[in-house]
Amino acid sequence: MKDIPNHVAIIMDGNGRWAKKNGLTRLEGHKAGARSAKNIVTASREKGVKYLTLYAFSYENWKRPKTEIIGLFHLLETYCKKELSEMMEKGIEFNLIGEWGKIPPKTKKILKETIRKTENNNKMRLILAINYSSRREILNTVNILIKSGVKRVTEKGFIRRLFTYDMPDPDLIIRTSGELRLSNFLLWQAAYAEFAFTETLWPDFTGDEYLEILQNFAERNRRYGGI
Ligand code: IPE
Ligand code: IPE
Ligand code: MG
Repeated sequence: MKDIPNHVAIIMDGNGRWAKKNGLTRLEGHKAGARSAKNIVTASREKGVKYLTLYAFSYENWKRPKTEIIGLFHLLETYCKKELSEMMEKGIEFNLIGEWGKIPPKTKKILKETIRKTENNNKMRLILAINYSSRREILNTVNILIKSGVKRVTEKGFIRRLFTYDMPDPDLIIRTSGELRLSNFLLWQAAYAEFAFTETLWPDFTGDEYLEILQNFAERNRRYGGI
């Protein structure tokens, strides 16, 4: 396929509603969501996407019940452990954007190990947004700049201090579950992103639907303000 987006970012939404619809617990919904994530990682790699960012846990998600939060971090640990061999085999580099601060120590350790072990892989980078808030990211950048004593900030200098400093902007942002919002995701980086929204709940999101979205993306005319 031509015109494959270099960077796809996905707001994986709808696990809870999917669980409810199927008479399952929210946590079972998240488990099913993790299976979807695995499929989409594989499809992305096969299609030649170079950066895939998955929004897994927002800064605002701390408002959820403690049991759900614990379950989510546990799921994350399981994902890293289970997928490590595949990541090594397929050349996937694992990374994170967000704040390390509130992440439980055990999860932090496993995440850091996964990052370290996969750091020389170069086929695709899989980035999880965890404990991520775009506004906090921007403020963090502003504070770093203030501290550094610079008198004037350039776009380049600003970008260099975002969590995404070594990544290109997303070309395509997908959100599942019918919600039409960004929920504090990549606000700065999304300036010229293309958007795709689908009613499909994340656990039902398939490789086929993903390919349809990629095909549609390929037909778009990105003008960046030009003609
Ligand atoms: C997205 O699914 C996953 C996370 C936010 C962790 P939700 O849990 O938000 O599912 P809904 O929106 O309640 O259906
Ligand atoms: C956004 O989903 C965050 C993730 C997908 C991790 P939410 O379900 O938390 O977003 P809102 O609350 O509906 O905006
Ligand atoms: Mg949601």
